[in-house]
Amino acid sequence: MANSLAAVTGASAGIGAVFARRLAAQGYDLLLIARRGDRLEQLAAELESAHGIHAEACVADLSVAADMYRVAARLSAEPRLELLINNAGFGVKGRFYEAPLEDQLKMHRLHIGAILRLTHATLPPMVQRGHGAIINVASVAGFIRSAGSISYCATKSWVNAFTEGLYLDLKAAGSLVVVQALCPGFTYSEFHDVAGVSRDSIPKSLWMTAEDVVDQSLAGLRRRKLFVVPGWRYKFIVALLNHIPVALRLKFETGTPYKRARVEEPANRV
Ligand SMILES: NC(=O)c1ccc[n+]([C@@H]2O[C@H](COP(=O)([O-])OP(=O)(O)OC[C@H]3O[C@@H](n4cnc5c(N)ncnc54)[C@H](OP(=O)(O)O)[C@@H]3O)[C@@H](O)[C@H]2O)c1
Repeated sequence: MANSLAAVTGASAGIGAVFARRLAAQGYDLLLIARRGDRLEQLAAELESAHGIHAEACVADLSVAADMYRVAARLSAEPRLELLINNAGFGVKGRFYEAPLEDQLKMHRLHIGAILRLTHATLPPMVQRGHGAIINVASVAGFIRSAGSISYCATKSWVNAFTEGLYLDLKAAGSLVVVQALCPGFTYSEFHDVAGVSRDSIPKSLWMTAEDVVDQSLAGLRRRKLFVVPGWRYKFIVALLNHIPVALRLKFETGTPYKRARVEEPANRV
């Protein structure tokens, strides 16, 4: 019998590459998607020879509509697709009004547009077959608003809301298809190099390996968990953020007491 197929976006580095390695070891054939084809080819060859699976490199910039639609068409026509991992992502550093708008728009196209499109292409055949799974890689940042990276937080917040909504749709339809929002905290990968953010400012105790993150995600998938937050520290932070009043959350987010903004009366008001 042919192997099941898993598609991983952002498979050329970090968390996506670890997903590819773990899934190859489980016997999945792989569709590895990212922009750097040389990296994908190298990983595909390594996994084929190590695990006797078939791995294919699919070079695509998922922030570009034509590439996104090409990949979506490929996924919807693949009857063996059992698992889609929407993982590709990046961060943009800087205050919203100072950071380049085009970078932020690109992030929205990748974190929101591509996930929406690829999920829409993938779910109908999965629902029809009655099995399959989608993991959307969000972030602990999806539960907070953080000065200096608000577009990132907002897109990850969307990923959390979208995945929870999918869960409700599938449950209402009585479908056994599984969805997961994976919400890592700080994870060793190329992410911070790409974003131009130093790792030194972040306490060592908060860092996790991509292997730990992926292992907890896949363990959560077996238990059909909707939200997977790897690491006890992050579980605690997310639980706290979900239960405290907004005023306290803002204090946590800014490190300064929340003061209600005073609204000045316009001088010409009648
Ligand atoms: N690392 C963290 O601390 C952390 C924490 C929470 C959540 N996350 C999330 O985890 C996911 C994976 O990030 P990572 O930490 O593994 O970072 P990474 O090592 O930089 O990997 C990012 C992956 O996304 C791909 N990618 C970026 N832009 C793309 C585009 N336009 N089209 C297609 N692929 C694209 C990159 O491949 P190419 O450059 O070859 O295209 C790469 O394979 C992201 O969604 C990120 O937001 C990371």
